[in-house]
Amino acid sequence: MKKAWVVKFGGSLLSDDGARRGFLKDAAALAKKRALVLVHGGGPEINAALDRMGVKSMWVNGRRVTDEEAMGVVEMVLSGQVNKRLVGELSRLGVKAVGLSGRDGGLMTAKPVPDLGRVGTPSKVDPSVLKTLLADGFLPVVSSVASGPGGEALNVNADEAAAALAAALKAERLIYLTDVPGVLDAAKNTIPVVKTRKDLEGLIASGVITGGMIPKTRSCREAIKKGVGEVDIVDGRAGLLEMKGTRLLP
Ligand SMILES: Nc1ncnc2c1ncn2[C@@H]1O[C@H](COP(=O)(O)OP(=O)(O)O)[C@@H](O)[C@H]1O
Ligand SMILES: [Mg+2]
Repeated sequence: MKKAWVVKFGGSLLSDDGARRGFLKDAAALAKKRALVLVHGGGPEINAALDRMGVKSMWVNGRRVTDEEAMGVVEMVLSGQVNKRLVGELSRLGVKAVGLSGRDGGLMTAKPVPDLGRVGTPSKVDPSVLKTLLADGFLPVVSSVASGPGGEALNVNADEAAAALAAALKAERLIYLTDVPGVLDAAKNTIPVVKTRKDLEGLIASGVITGGMIPKTRSCREAIKKGVGEVDIVDGRAGLLEMKGTRLLP
């Protein structure tokens, strides 16, 4: 089997109709030529659904506590609504997309994060279900919900999920599509390459990298350390073939 590429895209891109259509078209073209796995988040959709359903959130250090009720909504939105909409759009583009979550086929097990309820970090990946699908020409579309120790659903950061999947697949490339042209410096110019851990942690400590870019860049380093060939953060609004952005080195 050809070496796989793993492509993750975030909720920020999903809600932009033009951007979503563009990169799904590119993804469909790519999937016809090589082994491709898509991983998606859906933060904004989850927030909207929780608001709509009147589920109140508690926050600890800027992170949402996901109780059992909220987890029900997270799973419904990520593995149901968002995942199936993507599969539908990809099917229309002529690819055999299969939607699954980390709970399917024993794909991803996570360990609960203390004090955050049903939130986990990936602890084990069994990529056999992905390999089976890829070998038969399917395009796996994975939502970032994993199994906890007791088989319960845990909400995993989609950037971390993508890195864990890419590492387990020994992927040739891991590409994060986001809504900015890569990692930006203090003057908002794209940093072409982040060379070392020290460079990255310096950018975080000085407040240049904040918010969702922190788990993203740290996940990149995890993946590259674990043997993924090349890891990039690129502007998904330019499509999947443009690849303008930031490359992370070990
Ligand atoms: N140094 C930085 N360079 C680029 N983006 C940054 C930086 N620091 C923080 N960000 C923020 O990170 C966001 C991308 O992360 P996130 O919102 O989690 O998107 P995604 O849906 O792709 O995971 C950008 O939209 C930007 O607001
Ligand atoms: Mg994010």
